[in-house]
Amino acid sequence: MELKTPQSSAEAIALENEHGAHNYHPLPVVLTRGKGVNVWDVEGKKYFDFLSAYSAVNQGHCHPKIINALKQQAEKLTLTSRAFHNDILGAYEKYVTELFGYDKILPMNTGVEGGETANKLARKWGYLKKGIPRNQARIIFANGNFWGRTLAAISSSDDPASFEGFGPYMPGYSLIPYNDLAALEAELKDPNVCAFMVEPIQGEAGVVVPDEGYLAGVRSLCTKYNVLFIADEVQTGIGRTGKMLATDYEDAKPDILVLGKALSGGVFPVSAALANNEIMMCIKPGEHGSTFGGNPLACQVAMAALQVVVDEDLAENAMRLGEKFRDGITALIKESDLISSVRGKGLLNAMIINDTEDSSTAWDLCVALKENGLLAKPTHGNIIRFAPPLVITEEELDRCIAIIRSTALNFKK
Ligand SMILES: Cc1ncc(COP(=O)(O)O)c(C=O)c1O
Repeated sequence: MELKTPQSSAEAIALENEHGAHNYHPLPVVLTRGKGVNVWDVEGKKYFDFLSAYSAVNQGHCHPKIINALKQQAEKLTLTSRAFHNDILGAYEKYVTELFGYDKILPMNTGVEGGETANKLARKWGYLKKGIPRNQARIIFANGNFWGRTLAAISSSDDPASFEGFGPYMPGYSLIPYNDLAALEAELKDPNVCAFMVEPIQGEAGVVVPDEGYLAGVRSLCTKYNVLFIADEVQTGIGRTGKMLATDYEDAKPDILVLGKALSGGVFPVSAALANNEIMMCIKPGEHGSTFGGNPLACQVAMAALQVVVDEDLAENAMRLGEKFRDGITALIKESDLISSVRGKGLLNAMIINDTEDSSTAWDLCVALKENGLLAKPTHGNIIRFAPPLVITEEELDRCIAIIRSTALNFKK
């Protein structure tokens, strides 16, 4: 069969519409190339990428050091499965556990698998170490959480688009309000609770930043009630919020850390759950795993991706330019009544549009931004997330703020 590459955006979109499931609603742009903060469409138009594949491309598109690691390992050995050892996995495990300060890592692929791993670890720990009666373990989540699309992940979701029509749901999950320590304490008193899983900043919910002290409060309550604190840093981790981890802002080291997305620099799916021996050693051979988890290609790519974040001090860049971005949007708010506020940390930010949640204003504004060479996506009808690759320079950010400003000022509802 002949493989024909579409020659135009319209042709590519038509092919997807006809042959692919309609489980996404992408902006009408067809990308063919990426480098650093930029991507190009099939007609050759250049854009600033202000989504970074939902914060997977923190290191910038096609970072040469990451691509080089990929190429070199791809020519040598890609996959052994965990039926055999490979000569890269151990070095990767040492590197990551030392970098993040845990005894052990359990490597997986997608972010949601990292979350599933954390849930399974917590339940097993609950039975073996906390003495929770068989099949009674509970995990607490916060309203507005998002950790993926598996049946377990949607079972903890309060977004009907995620869960409606996919029941029955995973038992043993409960929801409490985000950013509410009193509600958390009330739940943690139940001796059958094994874990609280939470995002340090809720990404998909619209970059919801909790009050200062919340994460430290979560840490101390979990310690007090012998409950595991699981931090889902799949979106917030690896430099995005101005620190290596968003939990680094406070005295809030999680018992189980979940990483994904930028762990590979967006090259392909690499995720992980990290924990100390007391938790990680609860899982024995045959009790959890994945054919691709810990493959040598992923390990080399992830080591290179993390090294880039460290060497190029991308967290510091995110911290500095994030402030500049919020200052720029704050100044725009004074000029335009289209935008009501801006929030975020580092280079994970959101602009709130002065309209209802079910309006199309944020979408229409994203389409207008696209026309002006900047790609972003609404998380809700009235919230636009702005999350460029962390390699963005000050001069590039100035140009992007100018694009957002002129687009907003010329925008007609
Ligand atoms: C906080 C968080 N956790 C988990 C996930 C799931 O990651 P993946 O789509 O790689 O399964 C996401 C994806 O957006 C996320 O934002």
